[in-house]
Amino acid sequence: MAEILKVEGLNKTFGSGHLAVEALKGIDLTVNAGDLVALLGPSGSGKTTLLLSVSLILDPTGGKIWLDGETIYDHGWKEVDIRQLRLTKVGFIFQSRNLIPFLTALENVLLPLDLLGFERDEALRRAMELLKYMEIDERAHYLPALMSGGEQQRVAIARALASAPKLVLADEPTGALDSVRGMKVMEMLKKIARENRTAVICVTHDERMIEGFDYIYRLKDGQISLSDNHG
Ligand SMILES: Nc1ncnc2c1ncn2[C@@H]1O[C@H](COP(=O)(O)OP(=O)(O)OP(=O)(O)O)[C@@H](O)[C@H]1O
Ligand SMILES: [Mg+2]
Repeated sequence: MAEILKVEGLNKTFGSGHLAVEALKGIDLTVNAGDLVALLGPSGSGKTTLLLSVSLILDPTGGKIWLDGETIYDHGWKEVDIRQLRLTKVGFIFQSRNLIPFLTALENVLLPLDLLGFERDEALRRAMELLKYMEIDERAHYLPALMSGGEQQRVAIARALASAPKLVLADEPTGALDSVRGMKVMEMLKKIARENRTAVICVTHDERMIEGFDYIYRLKDGQISLSDNHG
């Protein structure tokens, strides 16, 4: 099975001295291609810190991270071209305000394709195809403000998929949605894992949303454990 993300003994401490907050305490985690992984845990347990640390948006304090077979972090040593690596291998979806407000749905999806150097025609073709895949192509020329939160999140998923990343990190993507729209967004995340073999790590507070996920991890005070059921 293709290992997409491997994390060993990952630590992250914010601040120092008596103000230090140990947000991650020795996290071990392996995620394979096509895995749908849910990350649950109370507020402040380190969920966001974990997503930001594995993608090196935050500098870890210690441990080791492999992404798609490459070591990208090893006890302080860090891959130099991490920006390029993130652009090509990792897609991000946050809780809300993912989209640039003055660009249409289509233009939002075109953005990473432009950064990746796609030709205009090819970029347009691919962006429309991704919007269609997320069942939101009829909104291609809408500005985000004219779409529902759920529609915006589906555009955000389309944009996250632009570079055909191996890993998608979603931080409470349904947190700002009602349950019907939230379910639809989760359905789309399942679809990209099942059909594209994209590995998905999804943080959520809502256990009803993770029906059918392959692995459920719980974070508590910076420590992770694998849950064998939803309870
Ligand atoms: N930039 C920062 N500086 C200092 N402490 C931080 C910083 N970011 C997070 N923390 C602390 O790290 C811990 C983990 O925070 P994190 O945001 O990862 O939690 P979370 O599980 O995502 O919570 P929530 O469910 O509320 O989003 C918390 O104690 C938090 O206060
Ligand atoms: Mg968070």
